[in-house]
Amino acid sequence: MIEALPHLFSPLTLAGHAIPNRIAMAPLTRQVAEADGTPTDEMAAYYARRAQGGIGLIITEGTYEVDDQHGCKAYLSQPGIANAKHVAAWKKVAEAIHANGAKAIVQLMHSGRVADPRVLPKGVQPGSASAGQSQGWVLYTDSDDEKNLRGITGAWPKVTFGPCRELTVAEIHEIADGFAAGAKRAIEAGFDGVEIHGANGYLLYQFIHTSTNHRTDEFGGSAANRVRFARLVIEKVRAAIGKDKIITLRLSQNGVDDFGGAWAGGVATAREIGAALKGAPVDALHWASFGWKDNGDPTSDVPMPVALKESSGLPMIVNGGIDQGAAAEEVLTSGGCDMVAIGRPSFANPDWPQMVRSGKPVNLVPFSRHYVIKPPLDLSIAYPGNIPEPHWPTTW
Ligand SMILES: Cc1cc2nc3c(=O)[nH]c(=O)nc-3n(C[C@H](O)[C@H](O)[C@H](O)COP(=O)(O)O)c2cc1C
Repeated sequence: MIEALPHLFSPLTLAGHAIPNRIAMAPLTRQVAEADGTPTDEMAAYYARRAQGGIGLIITEGTYEVDDQHGCKAYLSQPGIANAKHVAAWKKVAEAIHANGAKAIVQLMHSGRVADPRVLPKGVQPGSASAGQSQGWVLYTDSDDEKNLRGITGAWPKVTFGPCRELTVAEIHEIADGFAAGAKRAIEAGFDGVEIHGANGYLLYQFIHTSTNHRTDEFGGSAANRVRFARLVIEKVRAAIGKDKIITLRLSQNGVDDFGGAWAGGVATAREIGAALKGAPVDALHWASFGWKDNGDPTSDVPMPVALKESSGLPMIVNGGIDQGAAAEEVLTSGGCDMVAIGRPSFANPDWPQMVRSGKPVNLVPFSRHYVIKPPLDLSIAYPGNIPEPHWPTTW
């Protein structure tokens, strides 16, 4: 226990796995896998470096679990865990993280209607809760800074999402089976479990959110119906990987194509969703946001993770705008949180847990899109010591 931050540096057990502290690394997409989805040695080094910095639980970037016809893969250069080649490469990542003392889970995602059209098989329309078309676009910032980083001159090349179709109930079950198969492969690769991505605009979110789900069957309408798909996935994944592996479910109000998105009923909706997840065989919920207290509900000041934890009775990982140790300690004593997840600070400050241990404010290198667009090139910050490629070390 660290006196300055007694909660943050106290151990936690999830599905029988002892985690040394309450610090998770939030899932962060970098799009640096090989074109066929194979994770690289640089990725192993990148995650190992953050484990060495003191992260207790690493949640990998969003990873596609199957090559399907419904829009599973989301991004160019996104890693997959869809075949034996992927598994062999992820093994190196899991080993490297474990060698540096952290636990690790793979975030499994299905993108549905927000699949980048450039990664969809030819002629395939992605599936979603309901037919429609996202009004968002793939390259979601058009700042001049971003253009410079990407080396773009002239007009910003907008890549928009194509139309999507409504998934049948049989396809919903097929996709849930795909999550379970991906989870099995994650365990085969040596991971301690998986996170099921139900947040940020992707397929399971598209079912949970009333703005994208207009179904009238058992997967639409009430909160319990809208959560049914996520719950089905959790159950199939649990059956596939057994009791002693970690399963978390990530939830959010807004998404990559709707940054201002909010649950229509605010905190009351959070309570309904929590109640619908009560008793689900999941080890924790994971609240994703850019500010964990912002509930988007003018009628209540209850943070969403507090409402979700109370109504579900489940342990809660809380993410969003937590940058200092004292801020993390505040979340952990809010009544809505068992573990914090640190996102953007993890990119440029791989030693974040070590840095904040004193409880005193620390100077952090601010997040820049640079880490996503050309991440491995920024050796001085991502890899103190300026390690030249391809000599990525996995023990530090
Ligand atoms: C570049 C970038 C990539 C991200 N990739 C993912 C992802 O793969 N999966 C996911 O659930 N969230 C992803 N997120 C959201 C983060 O996990 C986190 O919710 C967000 O950054 C807010 O937390 P923070 O304030 O600690 O950064 C991403 C965020 C950023 C900035």
